[in-house]
Amino acid sequence: MKAVVYEGPRQVHVENVPDARIERPTDVLVRVTTANICGSDLHMYEGRTDLERGRVLGHENLGVVVEVGSAVDRIAVGDTVCIPFNIACGFCANCEKGLTAYCLTTNPESGIAGAAYGFADMGPYSGGQAEFLRVPYGDFNCLVLPDDAKEKQNDYVMLADIWPSGWHATRLASVQAGDSVVVYGAGPVGLMAAYSATLQSASKVMVVDRHPDRLAKAEEIGAIAIDDSRTSPVDQVMELTQGMGADRGCECVGYQAHDPQGHEHPNMTLNNLVNSVKFTGTIGVVGVFLPFDPGSPDDLYKEGEIAFDYGMFWFKGQTMGNGQCNVKNYNRQLCTLIHEEKARPSWVVSHELGLDDAPAGYEHFDRRDYGWTKVVIHPSW
Ligand SMILES: NC(=O)c1ccc[n+]([C@@H]2O[C@H](COP(=O)([O-])OP(=O)(O)OC[C@H]3O[C@@H](n4cnc5c(N)ncnc54)[C@H](O)[C@@H]3O)[C@@H](O)[C@H]2O)c1
Ligand SMILES: [Zn+2]
Ligand SMILES: [Zn+2]
Repeated sequence: MKAVVYEGPRQVHVENVPDARIERPTDVLVRVTTANICGSDLHMYEGRTDLERGRVLGHENLGVVVEVGSAVDRIAVGDTVCIPFNIACGFCANCEKGLTAYCLTTNPESGIAGAAYGFADMGPYSGGQAEFLRVPYGDFNCLVLPDDAKEKQNDYVMLADIWPSGWHATRLASVQAGDSVVVYGAGPVGLMAAYSATLQSASKVMVVDRHPDRLAKAEEIGAIAIDDSRTSPVDQVMELTQGMGADRGCECVGYQAHDPQGHEHPNMTLNNLVNSVKFTGTIGVVGVFLPFDPGSPDDLYKEGEIAFDYGMFWFKGQTMGNGQCNVKNYNRQLCTLIHEEKARPSWVVSHELGLDDAPAGYEHFDRRDYGWTKVVIHPSW
């Protein structure tokens, strides 16, 4: 089969690789119709993780089931399914509690919880930017989509990761109706966090970035765009909140946060959040941070350490939640919102490409070229 293969920093190729196949009786095999490129792929694409060369990328996947293992009960050939980026077993102590991002059995590396498709340090699993995908524990992991799956596939595919992850940021931040919310990052995840806050009746949603095309997307859903290349985003949030700070904050950038000139400061968004969220406010961090980052220009962060403004965080009595999203906690309800026409997350999609054009998609999305907000790949239709 054809697949997008990581070959080294800023090099991905479409290559022939061995066909994905049923390996265990609990597996499901999916013909991928829709797979996204994610900001998380870019950390790997840029060589800022220890992903091995030769791995097939892609963790935001949707497709049609073409084969099921002998121990699969629920999922049937022909079902259209969206697959959470987390690979979870459903029966370990963490899965039982809904913490499927921290499954204790699917990552073979001892001492590490959590697995994902085509992801550094998240197990050996191949990704779905390919013609076919093997889904372990198919009964548990597949979300069967309603009969409008085909026409709304660009909406439903966002259930694999970015919409639940944006929603997760708002839940970690305990957003309630009437709250003011500041979101750092207007990439696809930040836009989904802003969208989620809006759907949960936030009274004011402010989104910080410096890319005018991405900020314009935020304005399309009624958020207030804050361009941090013009003035301090903290000052702007203070001005918009009568000097109090936002009730809630969401971090949707991660360890490659940089200033508008492009210099990386891994602590930048975290400290801006502490300073632009109110006393006793709550912060949800879904942007990725890593235990080690040898390629970081920041000496502390090479060892995964951050110069975090803990004194001010403590003084303000703030609370912070963080980590990978447990997609299965949210994907079924969010699916219903799409089906019932209450939500249309595909508004972030800017480009739809065939599999052969995926390397060009990576290049544009990685450069954050104007208008390249979210790339959807269709290995088949
Ligand atoms: N926790 C999870 O489960 C989860 C899931 C999906 C993605 N992620 C992570 O979320 C992050 C965002 O993903 P994405 O797809 O939106 O990526 P992206 O790289 O497309 O978007 C990041 C945005 O942040 C902006 N930015 C950079 N520095 C900034 C700063 N100092 N202040 C404000 N904005 C700044 C960039 O201009 C860019 O628009 C990534 O780290 C990704 O790995 C986490
Ligand atoms: Zn993703
Ligand atoms: Zn588990």
